[in-house]
Amino acid sequence: MATTTKPRSKPAAVGSGNGDPRPADVLVIFGITGDLAKVMTFRSLYRLERRGLLDCPIVGVAVDDWTVDDLRQRARESIEGAGEALDEGVFDRLAGRLSYVAGDFSDSATFERVAAEIGAAKTPVFYLEIPPFLFGAVIKGLADAGLTQDARVVVEKPFGHDLASARELNEQVHTYLDESQIYRIDHYLGKMGLAEILYLRFANTMFEPIWNRNYISSVQITMAESFGVEDRGHFYDPVGALRDVVVNHLMQVVAATAMEPPAAHDPRTLKDSMFGVFHAMPEADPAHYVRGQYDGYRDVDGVADDSTTETYTALRLEIDNWRWSGVPFFIRAGKDLPITQTETRLVFRHPPRLGFRDTRSRRPEADQLVVKLDPTTGIRLMVDAQRGDRPDPEQIHLDMEFAEEGGEGPTPYEVLLHAAMRGDSARFTRQDSVEETWRVLQPLLDAPPPIHGYAKGSWGPEAANDLVRGHGAWHGPWMPS
Ligand code: BG6
Repeated sequence: MATTTKPRSKPAAVGSGNGDPRPADVLVIFGITGDLAKVMTFRSLYRLERRGLLDCPIVGVAVDDWTVDDLRQRARESIEGAGEALDEGVFDRLAGRLSYVAGDFSDSATFERVAAEIGAAKTPVFYLEIPPFLFGAVIKGLADAGLTQDARVVVEKPFGHDLASARELNEQVHTYLDESQIYRIDHYLGKMGLAEILYLRFANTMFEPIWNRNYISSVQITMAESFGVEDRGHFYDPVGALRDVVVNHLMQVVAATAMEPPAAHDPRTLKDSMFGVFHAMPEADPAHYVRGQYDGYRDVDGVADDSTTETYTALRLEIDNWRWSGVPFFIRAGKDLPITQTETRLVFRHPPRLGFRDTRSRRPEADQLVVKLDPTTGIRLMVDAQRGDRPDPEQIHLDMEFAEEGGEGPTPYEVLLHAAMRGDSARFTRQDSVEETWRVLQPLLDAPPPIHGYAKGSWGPEAANDLVRGHGAWHGPWMPS
């Protein structure tokens, strides 16, 4: 069903929350010759440049023996490869900011060269898009070169591969940095859909009174991807779906769906609310955990012939507090499913028997409210209604697709890089929450159930349906129209 709204008059803000009064005066990117930079970083920087939101030099650091012209060439190819129509004027401005330092991350001379390159900069932002085992060496190198005092350090995921390693990594980085200087990336925190959940919940009087266990019977969070592991076998096989997307991305969706309204908009208060959700969660029970692997996964380059890594995961979590006690949160995520779609879905309680009409042949469906985060953002309300043109009542959908109304918003990496440069840490994860999410999911890592095969393009293993038995079925996801 179509809805009408006024188009949004201005583009969505890239950042939110309090900016540090000291914006970055240089951005230093470790690992700039790598894959993430190729796929995400250059494109995001280009888009920030286009929006007029970049205003400092950018220094790339990597072990490769590149010149600055090689770097500029890579930037051009990456931006075009990501599908951006390149505006030469914008690109020239971006290219003019770039410089390059080649060096080994274990060599102190590399950090001296970085220091020389950034000169008198006072508030550098160091972005480490490098494997986590190198975080310690790079942060130590920066600290030894006297570069960390007023710096912010942005680190890429994964932050640990279990609770113990996440704690260890935290200890390592805290040797040289205060928690307030560490910006841990989870790109889901930069998604417009996630901000939309919060806005919808806390800016509308009609939702808050029903957003609890008195009205909601279960919550379903689905992250479906229609593609497989492709050329990422080496990365993916030791990781699996639970570590790849649940402990981080989908737990952020749980937090946004379940948190209490933050009392203020400063980063600490917002993060306290998110932490409150994780802290109220009992450890997950492996009896409510299903793992699947798509047929053909073991033939992927970099995957072990006898791999039991899950490419599909479905699980049940609980939040034991006044708002959510007794409401299961069902989460499923999988590769090579029929479509690409990420959403959070509230399933409301069934209405009682309808006194005013005979409902023997059809009981009204439970209402549902869906916020989808990917690949586009939208809200769907599903309610039972009696339409004039049909003999019987039915469930109708009230849909709002934001892309159709307000145009395209900023991409998550644009949001996050800009926020890090402004010193707005609201959209980055905090140590206590990182450790809590690992604590909740650790039992599933310790006692993984057997793996079920599933056909590519299916909705995953049959066993996942048992998980939601007694709570209806898996609903949706919202299929693209
Ligand atoms: C990454 C995972 O962190 O997130 C990928 O490593 C996954 O496996 C991706 O496909 C999903 O992100 P998005 O933004 O496309 O939903």
